[in-house]
Amino acid sequence: MNNILITGGAGFIGSHVVRLFVNNYPKKKIINLDALTYAGNLESLKDIESKSNYTFVKADICDFDAIDAVFKEYKIDSVIHLAAESHVDRSIKDPLSFARTNVMGTLSLLQAAKTNWNNNLSDKLFYHISTDEVYGSLGDDGFFTEKTSYDPHSPYSASKASSDHFVRSFHDTYNLPIVISNCSNNYGSYQFPEKLIPLFINNICTNKELPVYGEGKNVRDWLFVEDHARAIDLIFHQGKVGETYNIGGFNEWKNIDLVKVLIKTVDKLLGNTEGTSEKLITFVKDRAGHDYRYAIDSTKLKDELGWEPSLQFEEGIEKTVKWYLSNQDWIKNVTSGDYLEYYKEMYENK
Ligand code: NAD
Ligand code: TYD
Repeated sequence: MNNILITGGAGFIGSHVVRLFVNNYPKKKIINLDALTYAGNLESLKDIESKSNYTFVKADICDFDAIDAVFKEYKIDSVIHLAAESHVDRSIKDPLSFARTNVMGTLSLLQAAKTNWNNNLSDKLFYHISTDEVYGSLGDDGFFTEKTSYDPHSPYSASKASSDHFVRSFHDTYNLPIVISNCSNNYGSYQFPEKLIPLFINNICTNKELPVYGEGKNVRDWLFVEDHARAIDLIFHQGKVGETYNIGGFNEWKNIDLVKVLIKTVDKLLGNTEGTSEKLITFVKDRAGHDYRYAIDSTKLKDELGWEPSLQFEEGIEKTVKWYLSNQDWIKNVTSGDYLEYYKEMYENK
């Protein structure tokens, strides 16, 4: 697999995957295809954009003709598909655009792979990046395994579940070589500040309220984004065709406890007295259909491919906070324009 199409490479996780592949595989061609929605930012890739094995193509995955042309021009033999609408709160406000990108966009990519790889499926791979949210919500015990039935609740997770089913259907119906991974919540550099961790770091720095949904008791399983990118590299090269792999760090945090770790870390790095920013915590109306708990069992990935997370959570959070503190320009650029409108609509009436 020499000509790798990475979709959504200008987004949060995609930018880390593109960087890792461009740096680690100088002899392979990495084609980053992204529509540059509000969530896509080429500034996140400045350090690798001039490398000779890297190409950027601005296109929408729903545009079959454009995707087909990219397959032909770059002789694409493998795909790592990350492009998606990814924010649950936005999916509650605008479910149609989630169905369009996540379902129809994935289908258009699958169709392009199928038609272009038609008679020659050896050394080809369609790797679909998905989420643990397709499995639904857990109670206080248990974990999601690869065998857990799908039970999505938000328009986001329903659209991702649907795309996973289409990917598997192309394997079962047309023998398309596919692999899927379902990962838990990621954190790290270059995440758009609408998601919990970068939003709250930014708000603490600017002395704004921290809107905790409900009572802050919901639980998420957090993984450092560079560990996710390493898992993707491993699964891309060594995963078994047709299989699913769960990726997670066995690192569960109740939202309110996580917020306190963030406050402590930011206050320490800004030189504030411990606890200064706790007064910013504001409990707001809960998210509709808010899943209570996610927790991934990633034993299969560890046993079969030897993957383990590399960082302790506190270490990862400190690294992440330091990155946001020293990359204020990046935050300013991505939060200008449309984002201000979104923030007003989302949080000002709560
Ligand atoms: P993101 O929102 O930061 O980035 C998505 C990227 O896709 C952006 O660059 C955007 O411009 C691009 N995009 C959106 N619509 C497009 C379209 N129609 N055509 C082409 N490009 C388009 O998302 P992320 O957090 O980096 O997530 C990447 C993938 O990983 C998604 O598929 C998501 O479901 C999955 N995932 C995310 C997490 C997480 O915690 N962020 C966890 C598990 C799985
Ligand atoms: P988020 O980062 O949106 O990821 P996801 O919903 O995909 O898990 O949210 C993480 C958790 O934080 C989730 O339980 C919702 C909660 N949350 C808040 O309490 N306040 C906020 O402003 C946001 C964005 C999220």
